[in-house]
Amino acid sequence: MFRNHLLPLCLVGGLFTAGSSFAQVVTIPVETQHNALVLQTDADKNLKMVYFGAKLSNTAEYARIQKMYNQKDDSGILNSAYTPSGSANLAEPAITVTHANGDKSLSLVYVSHEVTKVADDISLLTVTLKDPVYNFEVKLYYKTYFKEDVTEQWSVIKHGEKGEVVLNKFASANLNLKGSGFWLKQYHGNWAEEMRPEEAKLTHGIKTIDSKLGTRANLYEPSMFAVSIDKPATEDEGKVLLGALEWSGNFKIDFELDVSDNLRLIAGINNAAAEYHLKPNEEFATPALVYTYSDQGKGDASRKLQRWARKYKIVDGEGSRLTLLNNWESTYFDFNETKLAELLKDTKKLGVDLFLLDDGWFANKYPRNGDHAGLGDWQENKQKLPDGISWLVKEAQNNGVKFGIWIEPEMVNPKSELYEKHPDWVIKQPNRPEKYFRNQLVLDLTNPKVQDFVFGIVDNLFTKNPDLAYIKWDCNAVIYNAYSAYLKKDQSHLYTDYVRGLYKVLERVRAKYPKVPLMLCSGGGGRVDYGALKYFTEFWPSDNTDPLERVFIQWEYSYFYPAITSSNHVTDWGKQPLKFRTDVAMMGKLGFDIVISKLSEQDLDYVHGALKNYDNLKEAIWHGDQYRLQSPWDNDAASIMYVDNAKAKAVMFNYLVNNRYGTGTLVPIRLKGLDPQKKYQVKEINLYPGTKSPIENDLVLTGNFLMNVGVNPHVSSGRTSVVLELDEVK
Ligand code: GLA
Repeated sequence: MFRNHLLPLCLVGGLFTAGSSFAQVVTIPVETQHNALVLQTDADKNLKMVYFGAKLSNTAEYARIQKMYNQKDDSGILNSAYTPSGSANLAEPAITVTHANGDKSLSLVYVSHEVTKVADDISLLTVTLKDPVYNFEVKLYYKTYFKEDVTEQWSVIKHGEKGEVVLNKFASANLNLKGSGFWLKQYHGNWAEEMRPEEAKLTHGIKTIDSKLGTRANLYEPSMFAVSIDKPATEDEGKVLLGALEWSGNFKIDFELDVSDNLRLIAGINNAAAEYHLKPNEEFATPALVYTYSDQGKGDASRKLQRWARKYKIVDGEGSRLTLLNNWESTYFDFNETKLAELLKDTKKLGVDLFLLDDGWFANKYPRNGDHAGLGDWQENKQKLPDGISWLVKEAQNNGVKFGIWIEPEMVNPKSELYEKHPDWVIKQPNRPEKYFRNQLVLDLTNPKVQDFVFGIVDNLFTKNPDLAYIKWDCNAVIYNAYSAYLKKDQSHLYTDYVRGLYKVLERVRAKYPKVPLMLCSGGGGRVDYGALKYFTEFWPSDNTDPLERVFIQWEYSYFYPAITSSNHVTDWGKQPLKFRTDVAMMGKLGFDIVISKLSEQDLDYVHGALKNYDNLKEAIWHGDQYRLQSPWDNDAASIMYVDNAKAKAVMFNYLVNNRYGTGTLVPIRLKGLDPQKKYQVKEINLYPGTKSPIENDLVLTGNFLMNVGVNPHVSSGRTSVVLELDEVK
């Protein structure tokens, strides 16, 4: 137990045990480049989380932290690293169980720990806890990404009792934070209203963010959050923890300001109507809570998460993406081969990489001519597409573009052949009237046959059309009347096993098609989380593509997800001119969903220029660092910039978000993330044909000037969106 792991701290994320002067006490620092989370046992071998914050320079001093606190804790385990219930604990538990004999008490004590090095940058700490009375074990996992300052934390639960144990609650992570006050930033929303932030000081008691929607679980509330410590963190100042659960189903995150004024954070799958029956020796692995910490504000924390996501989580995060033309808003369900052939020509004319055919291409007995029928019947509609998808793929190739397609494979319309053939594959109560969300029901992905069916939809598409280049995977309904014909007596497993079934399908898809771009969509942003994004290249933030709204929506998503994952399409929503719409969409992965034939010559010229600029800047936008300069919430103009990794090229987007009289950028906006020593040429790009920029030609300024004085993009009611490019001058 007191082995000194003499692995270099900078490599392993730091693990050591205290010296013999602290007999019986084991101290386990979980370190990353700048931060540390410290676990420590007490004399009774309870494992506690005693520190979370900036890494200390003298690692031996971690062992002394706990003794500096005189806070009251009668239970003795208020800051448990994974709080059991029914024994000493009186606070919100991380785990509640019913043993095989009906007893509901659990105590967990430290047994051992080990660190394995997964890769240069990645270490995995495993701590084993056991109940001294029952044959019951929990392993806590802390996977640290050293350079990125990111930790993924989860637990694995197992028992060797005589009979099933019921897991009544089974959190992924239980953090304990100390500070003079805590502020929670959370999000709420609905269709077309995603990512509306609220921030408030946490008061004593428990604040919960959760979802019980089953699928499309983030529709009302996502699991992403920020907790500021001591005072509300700003963009560049203050201590802040950013976190989210890597889970695409029901979640629950409790923030308990406890009797000792510390913050207990307990995150995991929502246990509401979801107790799990665990057989002897079966392992129950919880999904990871991913988090990062910065003492330099939300901006720094978000860049850490973004870097981590690109490097380790999303598919092909350091790779390339396809620009595209989508037909959803230009045709809805109303198209045929002739119309699509025109759109393929338009794709070429527009100058993007791919044409994405949206909803409406399938089903024959109940044709998919609206959202009330056909879902589940994944055969080409013979009237609309007599020559099938393969003809479209070829026709796309003839036009020198790629072809992608929309599916919603987890769902079914009651008006479909699938429903007629397999009513037992559908989640619905046998004895109650059906209740629909968008005229549809959810397929029962706990059933392996349904998993095969869903995998088959994707597999058939690619097998028949090997050149198919992109899939948009939608998910438009929540789960009402939760009941699985497959699960029989284990109905409470439905919410958990649904998500596991979904991930099994996605694993199979990725095993066979590792790199093909997949867009994660859920009636807008109803399912954006790192559990799912592990299998996707990008997501659809919202069906709301009004660019004014998107400035806010994309701004908030960017705290958690890198720009390369954010599919932003130029559409006809809103009242803004084409330039504004395109400039906003360029902040992430650019696409279009407009009628190209309606564009004027000038519009088309402008778009061609913008696409060229995008190509030139995509390295900075997709793989560089993002800096939020001016928030749309508190300013007339929002301003965001991206800098490439060499600090040689940057782009600054500025959008007017207030149209009252006299609004605009009256003072310069300070840039961030540049090299102060370098000189940059600043020039306005994406100018609409025939307009001139008030920004001087040949403006060359040092990074030092740009970061201390700034630059004025001259945003005003006559210049509602301004894009500036910065290039290093040698
Ligand atoms: C959802 C998606 C849209 C579109 C429609 C098709 O609403 O978010 O982008 O694909 O479905 O029915």
